[in-house]
Parts: sequence; structure tokens; C-alpha cells
Amino acid sequence: MASSVTVLRTVREVREWRGDAGDVGLVPTMGALHGGHRRLVERAAADGVAIASIFVNPTQFAPNEDYRAYPRSEEADLALLADAGCAAAFIPGVEEMYRPGEDMRVVPGDIASRLEGAARPGHFAGVCTVVAKLFGMVRPARTYFSHKDFQQLRVVQTMVRDLALWIRVVPFEIVREPDGLAMSSRNAYLTPDERRRAVALSRGLFAARDEWARGTRDAATLRATVRGIASDAGTPEYVSIADPVTLRELEGRAERAVVSLACRVGRARLIDNVLLGMSLDELARL
Ligand code: PAF
Repeated sequence: MASSVTVLRTVREVREWRGDAGDVGLVPTMGALHGGHRRLVERAAADGVAIASIFVNPTQFAPNEDYRAYPRSEEADLALLADAGCAAAFIPGVEEMYRPGEDMRVVPGDIASRLEGAARPGHFAGVCTVVAKLFGMVRPARTYFSHKDFQQLRVVQTMVRDLALWIRVVPFEIVREPDGLAMSSRNAYLTPDERRRAVALSRGLFAARDEWARGTRDAATLRATVRGIASDAGTPEYVSIADPVTLRELEGRAERAVVSLACRVGRARLIDNVLLGMSLDELARL
């Protein structure tokens, strides 16, 4: 039988709960939780006391994006969190997170400027600001991020390092459906036909991973492989072979790479990646 989750809606409630909660690990989410979130929470609970935040953060959505339509499923989310061993869920309203009269925002640097940052101007300023606020509110010892949003993970790692936030960022593997599609809250937007097509995204990435295993190191060849296969899902917005540390695009021979893509499939804008020549442990140590 799953234990229940303590629901906290205000910063004051978090502080009271936090007072005697010991060594806390935070899993920040926007809700609509799936198996990927579950694994993050299970890992956080295995490491200590786990708290998840559920907050659809308006400042990381552009006006033309899906803030209003973003799936919300609090009851199911709480059941998943309880089952995964989460001790508490912090579910603030917008007015609790962003108080009237606030004057400060985090300004992310170069690492946030390309890929998702270029496609979604202002996105990472919103992500960094809300994540920094969550860190201040919860004061966790550790925080858990899937590398499915690879650039987000690197941006948060960089913010923690540069602002000396004293939190260990734990990178976590991408959790996939049996056919390879990366789990994402936005998969809920896919029609059955789009869902079938979307698997071409991970197939393209896996083909690049297989080529890498056979010895291919040329960035252009890897890029062409991914694009050729992933295009069965739709026209990718980008296919990138980038350095996993700087996220600068690679040309010529790659010694290590994050191969990533973004593609609109119907209403869903999906992102995915594979990490080549670098382990998650190495990424954690950056
Ligand atoms: O990855 C997400 O769900 C969000 O970007 C995050 C980290 C919870 C910040 O709103």
C-alpha cells in the first residue's frame, strides 16, 4: 500500500515541513507525471527524503506556446508520487510563486542561447528563475533532472555552479516507451497516427548511436543519419551534434557528443537526445 504524500501549497507550509524533514531531494516538475518522473522520484526517495514540485511555470512559455493547454492532472500525479515513495508535493499557485512587486529574474548565459534557447526565446530565463526560486523555497541537498531535456540539465548545472547554490544536481537517464519514444507529458497530445510516426525520432537517434558504436565520428554523417530517419515523424526544427559540455555545434570529428533534435508532430513539439562518448557519471561531475 502506497503511503500518502503531504501536500504543501505555500512557502510557509514548505518551511514548516522542511524544518524536520532531514536530507531532502527535490524533483521539480510541471505535473502530468509519467514513468520518467516516477523513476526520478524513486531515485530521490532511495537517496533520502523526496519532495516533488508541481507547477506549470508561465514564465517559461512564450505567448504562442501551450501554457494554457498544458496537461494538468493533480489527482493522478499525487497517486503516482505516493506510489513512488515521495514524502511531499509542493503545489503552489502562480500568485504564491510570483509575488506582486517582484523585481528579479535569473539571466542565463551562453549555454542557454542555442538549440531550445534559440527556438524558444526567454524559455531558459523562465526555467532558471523558477528553479532558483524552488531551490530557495525547498533548500534541497540534491535535485534530480532527466537528460531528456539535455540543455535544461546543463543550464541548471551551470546556474548551480556559477551562483554557488550548494545543491548536487543528479542527472538521470531518459525513460522510454517499449518502442523507444522518450516519455514526455506532451506525448498526450499525439493522435494514434502521430504516436506511430513519432517513434521515428528515437529511431533516428538510435541509428546515430549505432553508427557511433561502429566507429563513425564525423558530425555531418551523424547529423544526416538522424535527419534521414527522424523526418518520417515530421520536419525536424533542428538536428544537432553538439559538445555535451558547451552545447556548441560540432563540425568534423567528434570525440563526445549530444545528438539532439526537436520536431513538431501534430500539436506536440517533441525533443529527444542520445549522449555519445560521455557517461551520466561524467556529466554529474561537471
Ligand atoms: O522540466 C520541467 O518540467 C520544467 O522545465 C521545470 C524544470 C519543472 C521548471 O519549470
